[in-house]
Amino acid sequence: MIIEPRMRGFICLTSHPKGCEQNVKNQIEYVKSKGPIEGAKKVLVIGASTGFGLASRITSAFGSNAGTIGVFFEKPPTEGKTASPGWYNSAAFESEAHKAGLYAKSINGDAFSDEIKRQTLDLIKADLGQVDLIIYSLASPVRLHPVTGVLHRSTLKPIGSTFTNKTVDFHTGNVTQVSIEPANEDDITNTVAVMGGEDWSMWIDALKKENLLAPGATTVAYSYIGPSLTEAVYRKGTIGRAKDNLEATAFTITDSLKDLGGKAYVSVNKALVTQASSAIPVIPLYISLLYKIMKAEGVHEGCIEQIQRLFQDRLYSGKPIPTDEKGRIRIDDWEMRDDIQEKVAKLWLEATTETLPAIGDLAGYRNDFLNLFGFEFAGVDYNADANEVVEITSIK
Ligand code: NAD
Ligand code: NA
Repeated sequence: MIIEPRMRGFICLTSHPKGCEQNVKNQIEYVKSKGPIEGAKKVLVIGASTGFGLASRITSAFGSNAGTIGVFFEKPPTEGKTASPGWYNSAAFESEAHKAGLYAKSINGDAFSDEIKRQTLDLIKADLGQVDLIIYSLASPVRLHPVTGVLHRSTLKPIGSTFTNKTVDFHTGNVTQVSIEPANEDDITNTVAVMGGEDWSMWIDALKKENLLAPGATTVAYSYIGPSLTEAVYRKGTIGRAKDNLEATAFTITDSLKDLGGKAYVSVNKALVTQASSAIPVIPLYISLLYKIMKAEGVHEGCIEQIQRLFQDRLYSGKPIPTDEKGRIRIDDWEMRDDIQEKVAKLWLEATTETLPAIGDLAGYRNDFLNLFGFEFAGVDYNADANEVVEITSIK
């Protein structure tokens, strides 16, 4: 079977095992090329199969020779259907880690559930004893609350008033106006329940209770801020409330880790093409303009460049970890540079269906989007039969 991208709306229904493997190998090579990082040796990554979480797992393993446990929620391949990309990524990651003599095991299931937390605690207990770094990198549209049984759905809505601005359908290149109705109180509560900090603190509490955190353990969760252009739908919208809550949770977790000398951080990362960000109105247009400018200025980064820099220059530089006035690590520093943002804001006013191919990086957007699913990688023969069952070694 030859696997091709099959699009439906903002998602791709297929993914390519060899392309996902190539993606992982490219990221590993990048991390190795940047030299060793004096980082954590036993790392738990929650949300480890794609995006920033996968990059964190790769950076830990191939930058610091860490043993890693990855938790994620992915679909294995079934009769006539490819697996989700995170499945293939994780299979490739484990295989490369094992070849390098590194411990790597994975747990596939709902990280919000008590059951998956239990499995993870048992695995740490049996294999690693304790962990010294916990990366929290979940991006999910829903959370079944383990205590109340309520199914919370997150939304991407402005708060207070209708938001109208430009957006692009990155498949067709059509720039249109989009209006998004404001959230109600339930939307806000639900989004905070899914993407806020409660589950992060539940994980850390559970680990601590069973003495699975090493002295000085660090935990890091990922956030986003972005420019005033996207503020109404992002940072001042429902998702922004969740990020406010996540950022506040870092302080309560740090308090709870005092006796261990541990610390919780939020790292504010750059806007990148991921499955989650492609579904947010306005953001793809912003990203296509941002990419154009950042590439021209030579400061463009993908997930792996962001996370490698986070680990080498911030978390494990040997110097005190620099934070902003709200205690956050800023690895979105290049995105937020005044000169970059001024140029993006100017292009934003000029962006139309006609001008965007020239002033924005739509081609780069599309390429990155297809890359998420393992397509468009150099060195992969996409005409070859790709009908293989790919297993993750540690998952039976
Ligand atoms: P992603 O979709 O690439 O990764 C999400 C991960 O979470 C995957 O490993 C997935 O399997 C896992 N996951 C989702 N639901 C799960 C569940 N119920 N149980 C277990 N695992 C589950 O997302 P991403 O873009 O890498 O986002 C990670 C974090 O980074 C999020 O907090 C996001 O807000 C933040 N962030 C993203 C951007 C961006 O532009 N993409 C920028 C800054 C910060
Ligand atoms: Na992730």
